[in-house]
Amino acid sequence: MRTLVLYFSKTGNTKKYAEEIAMATHADLLPAPKFKPKMIKDYDTIVFGGWVMANKIQGLDEFLRYYEDMKDKNIIIFSVGMSIVSPEMRKELISTNILDLYHVRYYQLRGSFDFNKLGFVHRMLMNRTIAIMQAKENPDASQAAIAQLRDTPIIVHDQPGIDKIVSVIHKLDAIAATPIAEA
Ligand SMILES: Cc1cc2nc3c(=O)[nH]c(=O)nc-3n(C[C@H](O)[C@H](O)[C@H](O)COP(=O)(O)O)c2cc1C
Repeated sequence: MRTLVLYFSKTGNTKKYAEEIAMATHADLLPAPKFKPKMIKDYDTIVFGGWVMANKIQGLDEFLRYYEDMKDKNIIIFSVGMSIVSPEMRKELISTNILDLYHVRYYQLRGSFDFNKLGFVHRMLMNRTIAIMQAKENPDASQAAIAQLRDTPIIVHDQPGIDKIVSVIHKLDAIAATPIAEA
């Protein structure tokens, strides 16, 4: 069974996770902007990983534009953000990205955040978010953590998340290799 892993990454976390998933499953690997719909026919499973900005999975809308052409494929989507992985955050990401409209498998992974790796535009956006959090009188734990982000990078390697996706791809491979029993 052939698998393609696509990724959309700004500072390298999603790219690294995509590389590890592709390596462990002997999949082809491609930056999402290089993906062409004519490639779909060559694969049984297509994985898309995108980084998260303001709860939106970057590059996902462009990828799902080809959903109708991929309906008979296994589609796996993973997001990479600094938020802690939880059922509540997963639900929020599904809702913000309208993922329940599609027949896909979705995984929320946690990635690193380093203010110093950002370009001008994203620094400005983060500065604004940090200023809002710092101005809060009674910030909750996650708001207080955001206010510290300029000085304290978050360094995470979500190995359990990667392992989960790899094991799902292996299971899909095994299912595809099992002959259908005759009645
Ligand atoms: C402007 C900006 C907004 C962000 N918004 C979110 C967010 O809403 N939720 C989240 O979990 N992470 C958020 N992040 C953190 C990134 O998703 C995280 O650093 C991720 O690991 C980046 O992936 P990449 O290295 O593949 O670009 C934001 C980062 C930036 C720069």
